[in-house]
Amino acid sequence: MLIGKNVSYFTELNSTNDYAKKMILNGSAQSGDVVIANSQTAGKGRLGRSWADEPGAGLYTSVMIKLSPKNTWVTLVFGLAALNTIKKATGLPLMLKWPNDIILNNKKVCGILAEGCKHLDGSDYFVIGVGINVNNKAFPEELEDKATSTFLETGESYSVTKLAKHLYHEMDYYYEKIQNGEGFASFIEQYKSNCLTLNKDVTVIQNKESVSCRVVDISEAGELIVKLDNGEKMAISSGEASVRGVLGYLQ
Ligand code: BTN
Repeated sequence: MLIGKNVSYFTELNSTNDYAKKMILNGSAQSGDVVIANSQTAGKGRLGRSWADEPGAGLYTSVMIKLSPKNTWVTLVFGLAALNTIKKATGLPLMLKWPNDIILNNKKVCGILAEGCKHLDGSDYFVIGVGINVNNKAFPEELEDKATSTFLETGESYSVTKLAKHLYHEMDYYYEKIQNGEGFASFIEQYKSNCLTLNKDVTVIQNKESVSCRVVDISEAGELIVKLDNGEKMAISSGEASVRGVLGYLQ
């Protein structure tokens, strides 16, 4: 097992992703190393958003893996790893919202921020930052209708440390397969069967522009394949777009 073999634990960090990137840049990181914090003062979300912090309640962790930046789909696969982790622990009927949000009852339980980074030795790394709302009791007002936690959904508290261990284990399972040359094609059916964005009418927001379309497929590069009103098809990559349901945040 590579992922989680070396764990750096902190009571407080600004962002586990930022700390992990520093470790990679200064050459002190090895593939599989992880950073975990009890609390983040400046947790980052996708597309420049922030990630809510409730000290000790959420899982805030970043995993460093050596992998070519060509494998942009890796963030979708680690979404599956996080989904398996939370499903096994809670039994909740969770689903993935493309690319890697984990959703229950139209609210988000987990988000993933993947960032590319060059190691001091010249090799390419990804930092996979995972935030899971575990024992969170409340969210800021603006997130109340968009975010939930496993505690709020089940009434039960879960050990954040145990969940972290299970997450590293699940991620390791996929990382080993990827290292053995398996591409997204190996995981795509599993991804699609857990993806609530597929076959939905959505609004894609890209560079501040909104486009209404229907999601018709996920490509082998992990892109969302959408069909526009004029029948034209378009591939959307996860680094640049967010998706909203026509009836609101996710539906
Ligand atoms: C998103 O859904 O927008 C992605 C959220 C990612 C949050 C995690 S928490 C641990 C890691 N460190 C960060 O600063 N962000 C990620």
